[in-house]
Amino acid sequence: MKNIYSNIFSFNKKNLNKCILILKKGELVGVPTETVYGLAGNAYNKDSIKKIYKMKRRPNLNPLIIHYFNYKDAKKDVVLNKSFFKLFEKFCPGPITFILKKRNTSKISSRATSNLKTVAIRFPNHKIVRLILKNLEFPLAIPSANMSSRVSPVNAEDVSEEFKRKIKFILNGGVSKIGIESTVIDLTSKPKILRPGIIEPSLIRKALNRKIRIVNKKTKINSPGLLEKHYSPGIPVIINQKKIIDKQAFITFGKKFKTKNNHFNLSKTSNLKEAASKLYRTLRKIKKLGFKKIYVTKIPNIGIGIAINDRLKKASR
Ligand code: TXA
Ligand code: MG
Repeated sequence: MKNIYSNIFSFNKKNLNKCILILKKGELVGVPTETVYGLAGNAYNKDSIKKIYKMKRRPNLNPLIIHYFNYKDAKKDVVLNKSFFKLFEKFCPGPITFILKKRNTSKISSRATSNLKTVAIRFPNHKIVRLILKNLEFPLAIPSANMSSRVSPVNAEDVSEEFKRKIKFILNGGVSKIGIESTVIDLTSKPKILRPGIIEPSLIRKALNRKIRIVNKKTKINSPGLLEKHYSPGIPVIINQKKIIDKQAFITFGKKFKTKNNHFNLSKTSNLKEAASKLYRTLRKIKKLGFKKIYVTKIPNIGIGIAINDRLKKASR
């Protein structure tokens, strides 16, 4: 069968080098991370950043996360503090993003940070993206590789379908294991979680040995989910449903639900980590199957469930 995804490249030395070259030229590539796939560009190059916003149709006021190989590189661009080191030691590289103060001498394009005085930084833990970062002299701005307001991609095919021919090069790293975006934590003042993720609030509380707020409401800064709609599969999503009355799709959770053609169980064993990893995949699959509406059962709002509910709530707006 002809490969319909002519912009997807398998991971090998030749393609890794090709990917690095494209980035050095200021062009964009699709890359795997452990959370979701991203659209990567040179964070120090304002033209690359411009291309990211254009390809994603992302509003300029929504800043990007800058990805680094290690904290020594990040130190040139942001002011690292005690809380950062505590969390870094525990969770990095991994699915956590830190908001920190930007240095005046930072070379990050001000476009990438929407002219804010802060920067979101992350150290992804996926072999491929780490290899790319290690071979570059600049950090990468990597937002999720989806059109703005849509569901994040969890494999190379999703990325190709999202941007079609507009994206020339996607490096295939298999399915993103975690399946939802990193936890975003603001460390510029009293630590607070701006976007919940797989690293759940209790783990952060424990690592910092203090209470941590989860900020849900719209704040002055351009915090995650500020946009009206987010994580949308393109059809209505109705959350916290006990049962469904029509023949549309029903996302279920736990063993009490039957197996039916229109039922999509996120985890039969009520495992929230498994549910998170299947969430976006399931939303995309349902849309592809032609359903017109998605009902979702109630998901426990504890631990990782907080992150799942955050995404579902925004998808249902
Ligand atoms: O897991 C992830 O974080 C993925 C992978 C690809 O690394 N990336 C990702 O990026 O989710 P993106 O652009 O889809 O989401 C970044 C979020 C946005 O909601 C943005 O508002 C927030 O981070 N953000 C970025 N800079 C910020 C800042 N200075 N202050 C507050 N929020 C910021
Ligand atoms: Mg995103």
